[in-house]
Amino acid sequence: MYRSHTCGELRIENVNQKVTLSGWVQKVRKFGGMTFVDVRDRYGVTQLVFNEETQKDLCGKANGLGREYVIQVVGTVAERSNKNDKIPTGEIEILAEELTILNASEVPPFTIEDKTDGGDELRMKYRYLDLRRNPVRNNLIIRHKMGFEVRSYLNDQDFIETETPVLIKSTPEGARDFVVPSRMNPGQFYALPQSPQVFKQLLMVGGFDRYFQIVKCFRDEDLRADRQPEFTQIDCEMAFVEQDDVLNMFEGMVKHLFKTVKGVELTNAFPHMSYEDAMKYYGSDKPDTRFGMKFTELKEAFAGCGFNVLEDAEYVGGIVAQDCASYTRKQLDALTDFVKKPQVGAGGLVYIKFNEDGSVKSSVDKFFSPEQLLELGEKMGAKTGDLALILSGAKAKTQNALNELRLEMGNQLGLRNPNEFSPLWVVDFPLLEWDEDTERFHAMHHPFTSPKQEDVTLLDTDPGKVRANAYDLVINGVEIGGGSIRIHEDALQQKMFKLLGFTQEEANEQFGFLMNAFKYGAPPHGGVAFGFDRLAAMFAGIESIRDVIAFPKNNAGRDVMIDSPSPVHGDQLKELHIALTKIEK
Ligand code: AMO
Repeated sequence: MYRSHTCGELRIENVNQKVTLSGWVQKVRKFGGMTFVDVRDRYGVTQLVFNEETQKDLCGKANGLGREYVIQVVGTVAERSNKNDKIPTGEIEILAEELTILNASEVPPFTIEDKTDGGDELRMKYRYLDLRRNPVRNNLIIRHKMGFEVRSYLNDQDFIETETPVLIKSTPEGARDFVVPSRMNPGQFYALPQSPQVFKQLLMVGGFDRYFQIVKCFRDEDLRADRQPEFTQIDCEMAFVEQDDVLNMFEGMVKHLFKTVKGVELTNAFPHMSYEDAMKYYGSDKPDTRFGMKFTELKEAFAGCGFNVLEDAEYVGGIVAQDCASYTRKQLDALTDFVKKPQVGAGGLVYIKFNEDGSVKSSVDKFFSPEQLLELGEKMGAKTGDLALILSGAKAKTQNALNELRLEMGNQLGLRNPNEFSPLWVVDFPLLEWDEDTERFHAMHHPFTSPKQEDVTLLDTDPGKVRANAYDLVINGVEIGGGSIRIHEDALQQKMFKLLGFTQEEANEQFGFLMNAFKYGAPPHGGVAFGFDRLAAMFAGIESIRDVIAFPKNNAGRDVMIDSPSPVHGDQLKELHIALTKIEK
């Protein structure tokens, strides 16, 4: 028997019991004639004591232990004289009687502590050591609980968890596919699924009616803090539903998760916001609604003002930062630098301070009288003591820059409290978006999303105006999930493919199986998929999804621990009929 108890289990009630513990050496300390060893496992840390005077050999062995040695100890639980109220086992210690070294360890490359000295890359290279640290393990435990509660909730609602294949055919969903060569079918490739989208629709045709899957998805796209090349979705689909049925069902699931895993009751119905309003008031389809600071459109207010930067711009918009009239020159310069950063993309920043003494000071005093500025302030809802920040330029770009500025001000003013959760459904997305590069429409969500019934006639006349039965769940400015009601009629789906620039042949080649299925009684259906990693990161209170993934990839898509991707043997390539072209470094 390796252990009678875990290293997090023993309490004052266990005093005088003989116990066996196994774990890793956290720390060895010599103090007078005693040696103290902290032994750690997943459950906690327990202090072992060795007495140099009465246990010379045993104590010598303990002194020889190094960090991360794996040991087994037999001893008796005793009350500590010097209690440690920071850990649950802090009232007791083990008077060691036997010590077995189960395995030695080299000195770890970084400290296995909550606050480690290891940098990101090093921690990833030795991820198995990083996993011994409490914060990483706790994040994975949160993730486990969430998965468990997802299954419990959806099972209670009659959803059936069904696996779908991982070696599939390439389906366009926006990102690039990862492809896998087939040895048995020379010159042909599988693709890894960007999501199980078409399979879950086929399950609906198969009569399953309520499907879900916690499933790996693969996308070859540029990586960010909230994007991994392989990530996990809570993927769901329902038949005989309208948009509100789907939203209600999954609002229920999200509330259930918040309650059971985070202990947070989200009692109110999640608000719905149209895509149009999201862009108009927040310049983003994933607004952080933990705070206000909504945009005011000011194009008209500046008509004929004489300052061409504002007058001639396609779009002028502003936000009001409350109680910020006291911002110094230096702070305003820093904000100007911020908006000019390439990722933000504004040309400059106009500010107006509505000072406490009733005076106004702005960066455009030359062009406006104080009365005009006060009038502008009124239009924006600014009060005495507030600061108005205004950007102008091309519409989409400026809205985006103003969104970044709003989020930055939210950060500066402490308005983005990580313990507050502000969920909403963004609805009524456009069905299509025009792509200047390829000069054709792309599906904003994916090609299977249905247009709103009332907009169907616009498909022939003004496709860009058609709204979709598509929705995203946004929490605290993060896109947590997205879905849509699908097209279930063959004719409409064909029309959609045509709008997206597929010839009849291309559509048949890529989606013939779906078109065929739709000929045999496809029920009306719709669904949604949640980014499980993103939701877990939010629950864990961290920004990057990497630390809710046991073995993540770095920003270059590499697993630095197993050193992948890596070249394969020439024979393997030969078998696959693959020849590599010269790779430019
Ligand atoms: P979508 O592409 O919006 O929809 O993806 C659903 C959710 O998955 C998460 N997500 C990601 N998380 C981490 N890394 C990534 N690279 C990544 N890409 C997406 C996001 C996103 O909201 N088949 C449709 C769903 C449907 O229509 O039912 C789909 O995949 O949180």
